[in-house]
Amino acid sequence: MKITPSHLSKKNMHELFMSAILPRPIAFVSTIGEDGIFNLAPFSCFTPVGLKPALVCLQIGWKRDGKKKDTLRNIECEKNFVVNGVDEALAEAMNQTSAEYPSDIDEFKEVGLTAIKSDLVRAPRVAESPVSMECQLVRILEFGEAPTGSHVVIGEVLLFHVKDELWCGEEIDISKWKPIGRLGGDLYCRTRDVFEMKRPTQSF
Ligand SMILES: Cc1cc2nc3c(=O)[nH]c(=O)nc-3n(C[C@H](O)[C@H](O)[C@H](O)COP(=O)(O)O)c2cc1C
Repeated sequence: MKITPSHLSKKNMHELFMSAILPRPIAFVSTIGEDGIFNLAPFSCFTPVGLKPALVCLQIGWKRDGKKKDTLRNIECEKNFVVNGVDEALAEAMNQTSAEYPSDIDEFKEVGLTAIKSDLVRAPRVAESPVSMECQLVRILEFGEAPTGSHVVIGEVLLFHVKDELWCGEEIDISKWKPIGRLGGDLYCRTRDVFEMKRPTQSF
């Protein structure tokens, strides 16, 4: 089977990509709008893209009506955001925030999560999240046009917050933090069935 992306509709390209590149981590992104209203939304086209500086990137598509998603509008305006990790306990609330709420709705309140003040950025973080990263906007890249194109947001992580009980010296104990991953369609995975493989040479 050979498939040429330009022959597919946006919907079919989404289904193909999301079932081909997986499992994906979920960035549960908290932002603040110009009006001071907090926003939350999940983004699974998300990955680290640098260590020093510590960089992450998110892909943000367009709303169905061709408008910008609130997360993108807020990041463009405020130049910062927080990436919160999603564990099994947060899965349901994370999913609820992916609904298209009007921009004047505080999605923390809507889904029953606690917004706490960040140390270095104006966007709040999710108190219930095991791991949060306060990010400052570095660049926004724009590809294509609405409603099929997308924006890639690159942020520098200025500060990590990790729940003390998850920290085991140099890293986070994933068996304790229990992150979930996004698969294709409406499927998710847990991270309970892991295996170890030593690299022939360890560079970092
Ligand atoms: C698990 C999950 C992952 C998602 N990943 C993305 C993504 O990578 N990019 C994107 O544009 N939308 C993604 N979405 C959809 C957004 O969360 C959704 O459009 C949301 O309403 C955006 O909210 P906002 O307008 O408050 O920013 C995802 C939804 C879910 C449930």
